[in-house]
Amino acid sequence: MRSECSAGRSLILLVLITLLCCEGFIYILYMPSMTSLLCNNEAPNQEQNKEQEPDEDQGTVILIWRWPFGHQMRASSCSKLYNITGCRLTDDRSEYEAADGVMFHHKDIYNNVTELLRMKRPPLQMWVWMNMESPGNSPRQARLDGMFNMTSSYRRDSDVWVPYGRIVQVSERDRSFQIPKKDKLVCWIVNNWNMRFRRVRYFYELRKHVSVHTYGGAFKKRLTLEEYYKILPSCKFYLSFENSVYKDYFTEKLFNPMKVGTVPVVLGSNRKNYEEFIPAHSFIHTDDFKSPRELAEHLKFLDQNQEAYEQYFTWRQHFTTKSSYFGLEHACRICDHIQRHKGYRVVNNLSTWFWT
Ligand SMILES: *[C@@H]1O[C@H](CO)[C@@H](O)[C@H](O)[C@H]1NC(C)=O
Ligand SMILES: *[C@@H]1O[C@H](CO)[C@@H](O)[C@H](O)[C@H]1NC(C)=O
Ligand SMILES: *[C@@H]1O[C@H](CO)[C@@H](O)[C@H](O)[C@H]1NC(C)=O
Ligand SMILES: *[C@@H]1O[C@H](CO)[C@@H](O)[C@H](O)[C@H]1NC(C)=O
Repeated sequence: MRSECSAGRSLILLVLITLLCCEGFIYILYMPSMTSLLCNNEAPNQEQNKEQEPDEDQGTVILIWRWPFGHQMRASSCSKLYNITGCRLTDDRSEYEAADGVMFHHKDIYNNVTELLRMKRPPLQMWVWMNMESPGNSPRQARLDGMFNMTSSYRRDSDVWVPYGRIVQVSERDRSFQIPKKDKLVCWIVNNWNMRFRRVRYFYELRKHVSVHTYGGAFKKRLTLEEYYKILPSCKFYLSFENSVYKDYFTEKLFNPMKVGTVPVVLGSNRKNYEEFIPAHSFIHTDDFKSPRELAEHLKFLDQNQEAYEQYFTWRQHFTTKSSYFGLEHACRICDHIQRHKGYRVVNNLSTWFWT
């Protein structure tokens, strides 16, 4: 019974979180009902304690200073989720003194520097700076330089790298992948609308040449998760346009369509950077075309050439995508990293590293 609940919860969380991490604030504001689905207010109970592995899962303690975006999760087992043993996660600040590591989410602390500086720090405790937003959407705070011992973000060169999604080998169950039925050519779901965003200008140009099915807050057509997962697979192409363009910054806008069997048309970092993480022929890059018009022509060509279209799914014979588990995955991987890197370390250049 419990595992059912936690499986359901995991799915909802995963979806919610991967769906809208970077625009999460806005989204959450409009989806208060989601939070009630998270089963997050369960008091710890006997059953839960029984289930915990014995001492070997208690060795390293990670304190989650505050759940990112306020989305509390049951600090479940890293060994079950990621095969990372010897870890215990907690969000109980009374355990601060004894914690081996403390995870701070940037948005929740960048304004509290003075307060953080006043805290007494156990000599071996690692403070970890965690952030999944791009530099363009993260307030810069130079006073954080020298405060942390480790970084965790979507950036490949973080100490603890947690991408929004990963390409993984298919399981037996996934081997039977089939392209879902399509009744739309191009779709775009967007909440965060800003004329400054390159993606908005590109979209205006693109839609002159091919019609785009638009959804989301920006178009006064906010979707429930259910609607989102009904629409997404029904589109041949999805505009995976990031809100800002930075190295390694590929979000759920990329990984969700890949997962459900829709070809992402990406706008973001350059193609070479994408190809470091996802198969070269699994996506279409806006940079591959001289203009939005040429891209539109290519999409229309693929619409008429099923065989050429299907080639974008060859990678699915062996691989699929796996979304990250916002917050929880960071904490587990941070724990793993701390277990294996006991030395002294200080991140003196956080602001230059991340923001320049
Ligand atoms: C879990 O990790 C252990 C040791 O690191 C390894 O031997 C084992 O194969 C892993 N199990 C799974 C399911 O990946
Ligand atoms: C940060 O500031 C807010 C508002 O002043 C406060 O509620 C919160 O507890 C502070 N502490 C930290 C370090 O998170
Ligand atoms: C972590 O960083 C702090 C602040 O710079 C430093 O005082 C402390 O010694 C560091 N701890 C470890 C274990 O590296
Ligand atoms: C910041 O420091 C890290 C190691 O602590 C180093 O790898 C990185 O290149 C530095 N970045 C900048 C921009 O100085």
